[in-house]
Amino acid sequence: MRVLIIDDQASLLESMREFFEGRGWEVSTALRGGQALEMAHSLNPSLVVLDLRLPDMDGQRVLEQLRREMPGTQVIVVTAFQDMENTICCIKLGAFDFIHKPIDINELDAALDRFAKVSVAQKSQQQPDPATFNRSSEGNSYIVGKSKSMKEVFKKIAMVSDSKVTVLIQGESGTGKELIARAIHYQGSFQKLPFMVVDCSTLVDTLTESQLFGYEKGAFTGADITRKGTLELAGEGTIFFDEIGELPLRLQSKLLRFLHEKEYARVGGSELMHSDARILAATNLDLTRMASEGHMRTDLLYRLQVVTIHVPPLRNRRSDIPLLACHFLDKISRKFNISVKTLTSGAMTQLENYSWPGNVRQLENCLTRAAVLTKASVLTNQDIMNALSETQGEFSKNVSFKTLAEVEKEHILNVLASKNGHLGEVCQTLGISRPTLRTKLRLYDYE
Ligand SMILES: Nc1ncnc2c1ncn2[C@@H]1O[C@H](COP(=O)(O)OP(=O)(O)OP(=O)(O)O)[C@@H](O)[C@H]1O
Ligand SMILES: [Mg+2]
Repeated sequence: MRVLIIDDQASLLESMREFFEGRGWEVSTALRGGQALEMAHSLNPSLVVLDLRLPDMDGQRVLEQLRREMPGTQVIVVTAFQDMENTICCIKLGAFDFIHKPIDINELDAALDRFAKVSVAQKSQQQPDPATFNRSSEGNSYIVGKSKSMKEVFKKIAMVSDSKVTVLIQGESGTGKELIARAIHYQGSFQKLPFMVVDCSTLVDTLTESQLFGYEKGAFTGADITRKGTLELAGEGTIFFDEIGELPLRLQSKLLRFLHEKEYARVGGSELMHSDARILAATNLDLTRMASEGHMRTDLLYRLQVVTIHVPPLRNRRSDIPLLACHFLDKISRKFNISVKTLTSGAMTQLENYSWPGNVRQLENCLTRAAVLTKASVLTNQDIMNALSETQGEFSKNVSFKTLAEVEKEHILNVLASKNGHLGEVCQTLGISRPTLRTKLRLYDYE
């Protein structure tokens, strides 16, 4: 099989050549986009590894052209840029995978493994048309992150946003679940349709039903006109069930019926209405445990978790903290009309080392407090400490104790990250055998 590697750095091309040749590939390289497109046409490679930043043309245009003119060739995009829009844009343009610089050999190997599986599976299938990506800032859904786990989240957003598949977003409070739900809607092809939020935690039983399904005039005391419910108002758009774990059991069965049949009737009405809305749901509760304890219907859980997005707590993706801090300082300066503040390196280290029980929301609150209450343009350790001591009380209430299995998982993933994925070193540090580690990683869905 042949791979064409496109990058403007000759030294990187050489090490990539070594990597691929070592794995039995035939390798061609190009330093420029124009030259690469010509070579791709004459060589017809199975795989292209494309750097987005090229001297002569925009890497995204190269990607677009490759996907359009050579749909049988898969493209792995490599870039130094780290933001959600880039990832989503490339995946929507048809990139097979997305790897950040500096390149991690394990990540590249994992991408090649996936490539091998997909190319076997796709041999008999027709290639889908490359979708076009519509850059949209609507819905304020800009998500920041560069950690491996957030990159996985971005990929999943890109993969589900154009379909109507039901998605369950799971994560602790303040991790960004609502932001992700909005991104799925506003980055997708249904962005012009309504996005409706149903907050399951604040609704009373009877009210929820009429709010969801609407009601006919005279259905109950006070129902003097016919009203549309959220399902009807959403039309073919998205309904986001926030805090789905709080939905009372009685309503769970109604929702299940709706998800199953896509049909419902207004309260007090007999006409069956049809809905084509897409369902997203979020929770900070362990729904599987709730189901085993009888607080959640198992059949509803299965319906909801067609695709699940796990949003990791901030303490498990500390590499996102500097990026988030800069994003928030910039956002705060615009919101409160103050000049953009920066952080001393000590203050940044402090942010990176803190455990953030209230996750991203607590980080945002802490920086808002520090930025608004400090006159100086550079925030110090002390400013952060003051702001933190005020937000700590608020968020410590939310901390619940973890099970031993959760603590073990967190510890193993932390060691894995600190050893850059070298399983041998991880086993040595943890004092466990490789098969034991592999079994546990499989259990965590870690590839
Ligand atoms: N990755 C991120 N990039 C930028 N902003 C973020 C990110 N994650 C969270 N935020 C911000 O943090 C705040 C909390 O996010 P959000 O409301 O989506 O969390 P949540 O998981 O729904 O929390 P809860 O469970 O408490 O409802 C919001 O202001 C959101 O904009
Ligand atoms: Mg929320």
